[in-house]
Amino acid sequence: MRGKAYIAYARGEGQARPAGKAAAAKPAPAAPEAPKPAYKIIGRSTPRVDGREVVTGRAKYTHDVRLAGMLVGKILRSPRAAAEVAAIDLGPALALPGVAAAVKLTEGRVLYAGQQVAAVAAVDERTADEALALIKIDYKARPFVVDWEKARDANAPQVREGKPNVEPLNDYARGDVAKGFAEAEVVVEAAYRTGVEVHNPTETHGSVAVWEGDHLVVYDSTQNVHGVRDSLARALKVPAANVTVVKNYMGGGFGSKLAMGDYTVVAARLARLAGRPVRVLLSRRDNALCVGYRPSSHQAYKIGARKDGALTALSLLNYASGGVAAGDDVAEPAVDLYACPHCKVEEHTVYTNVGAQRAMRAPGHTPGMFGLESAMDELAAALDMDPLELRRKNYSTKNRGDTGLPYSSKGLAACYDLGAKAIGWERRNRRPGEGPARGPWRRGLGMSSSLWFGAGVPGTLADIVLYPDGSVEVVCGTQDLGTGTRTHMAVVAAETLGLEPKDITVKLGSSDYPWAPISGGSLTAPSVAPAVRDAALKAVERLKAVAAARLKVDAADVVMAGRTFASKADPAKSATFAEVYRDLRRETVSHGEREGMDEERFAFNTFGAHFAEVEVNVETGQVRVLKYVAAQDSGQIVSRLTAESQVVGGITQGLGAALFEERVLDDATGTVVNPNLRDYKIPTSLDIPEITVLFADVQDGHINRLGVKGLGEPARVPVSPAIANAVFNAIGVHVREIPMTPARVLAALGRKESAS
Ligand code: MOS
Repeated sequence: MRGKAYIAYARGEGQARPAGKAAAAKPAPAAPEAPKPAYKIIGRSTPRVDGREVVTGRAKYTHDVRLAGMLVGKILRSPRAAAEVAAIDLGPALALPGVAAAVKLTEGRVLYAGQQVAAVAAVDERTADEALALIKIDYKARPFVVDWEKARDANAPQVREGKPNVEPLNDYARGDVAKGFAEAEVVVEAAYRTGVEVHNPTETHGSVAVWEGDHLVVYDSTQNVHGVRDSLARALKVPAANVTVVKNYMGGGFGSKLAMGDYTVVAARLARLAGRPVRVLLSRRDNALCVGYRPSSHQAYKIGARKDGALTALSLLNYASGGVAAGDDVAEPAVDLYACPHCKVEEHTVYTNVGAQRAMRAPGHTPGMFGLESAMDELAAALDMDPLELRRKNYSTKNRGDTGLPYSSKGLAACYDLGAKAIGWERRNRRPGEGPARGPWRRGLGMSSSLWFGAGVPGTLADIVLYPDGSVEVVCGTQDLGTGTRTHMAVVAAETLGLEPKDITVKLGSSDYPWAPISGGSLTAPSVAPAVRDAALKAVERLKAVAAARLKVDAADVVMAGRTFASKADPAKSATFAEVYRDLRRETVSHGEREGMDEERFAFNTFGAHFAEVEVNVETGQVRVLKYVAAQDSGQIVSRLTAESQVVGGITQGLGAALFEERVLDDATGTVVNPNLRDYKIPTSLDIPEITVLFADVQDGHINRLGVKGLGEPARVPVSPAIANAVFNAIGVHVREIPMTPARVLAALGRKESAS
């Protein structure tokens, strides 16, 4: 799924829920003043219900699937960044003993290094590799360009035939920026750049396909079992009813597994040709070449303010690059976060001969927040103002600055207060770079705001199944990417049914289960938890009716407490859970649905504020993050422990992007030169500081019946600007490009020297 479609999805627009049911769903009754619910389990720290399976290695990931007679599928990829494929000869590969099938995957042009050209299925890895080496491909080399700045040149090779390399991406305007800048007493102008960040999930992409007669079963490492089912049916021209997609356990996706992969179709085609199951698992190298990354950005900001800090105008000019796909527009934070009357945005995308980008953990907002919040800190310095006060001064209670709808809830101010207190904000250098020196080391504190969607998807379905033996199952066709979905489903079901999470059997990760949306856009918990709650409330009603029959009282008179059902009027009349469940006589299903939202009246967003303390070595350019505080407004937290680990994960990933993660391309060969985890650095435990995770107490009665908002992406959005602003506070000059490698830190220090 490309950035645009993903953003629409995360916003709650154009949902793929079948039969227009989402549109028909009734909004939840608004209850903003409702007292805080007295939950027993929701909001507490529940250990993961599947923790033991995962840490003991018993959990079955896609890479663990082994089927009888299974073949190994391998894909041959173009070493060239641009070429005409004149001919492909599969003959010698097919003649190799042990090779069961081979397919051509490209006719015509190759547009990037790593594009698939052919594939084989063989009895084992080695035979498959040998077969790939035997495939003869006649490439006619074509000119290419992989550097986005060079791609903008009028004489640069054209990436897409007959189309320019630079295209408009996004335009937005409100008010009159010229007027706003004329009213400004202080104006700051600066450009910020973000590099290409690769998703690098622990488990690489892959699928195992098996045809059972006309029915195709695919085990897939995906964030979207229902979507892959539909896309695969279309690609293979078979009915969706004849396809089942299963994803049991998963080692992360971060957006790179939202849509069906080419390799999934390859596995299904090879399996059909060979008449045997086929698995296609991508390598770490493939991961760097052909399954997406976060696009780069080059954001030029101009911000004007009065002396008291009130913003008068903001303009943004951005160039984004997403290879053969459009880049992400990054403007939403600039447009939405602050109450600025005059705002103008112009964004362009630059096409290059590089594999297509894919949505990555808060696409657009993450690089956009780096640019905006960095510029806000530079403005605060120009105003000689506390950066946090500048943000409070321009606080917006409405979406889209001054023009849009009020937020259903906005706990950002609470996050500012919580975070500032926890980090000790008063310890920051009053002016950037004025801190005491400890040898070559300088310390500083910085912060950034977070803004994202994460309201969830109306129409999400979940079932509760009650069995006469007392066991309880919760079933939903969602997926657990490693985030803790199983646990939050068990928590909500247990809370509602008066049980413990360990009493609940959770079934998820199959397209045969009730419909749920992609697990992306931070919408899993706010989609699934309310649906489970609805199903469980209906199950309780059913149990009360059954208990009423046994107790010979009115169902309205029955209360549930301490694993019994009793009469309110006559507490002596009671029945145990075991007795009532037995009276069900057969398994009993309750269908739950996630209700709608009043999108006419409210904007639905998530917020947060992150604070970092860093130490910078002004001789070597090294940056160390010493302490980190994250305060999030994600509404009602379902399971505190899994929520905290989401936040720690977001910080870890953001710290990598801030300090070392960057994919490097070679101009001469047009390929990635660091397609592995040795040369592409991700953080290790030694890089991770002391982290404090805080949740603002926000009750949102408009968003869904539980007041749950998303968290996965909100925890990632503000990390690199918080660290960059801390570096600025430490050394007195802003490192305007991430990752902030030692070389870039030293270059920024050089800029400061030449300015003074
Ligand atoms: Mo996403 S970009 O899968 O949260």
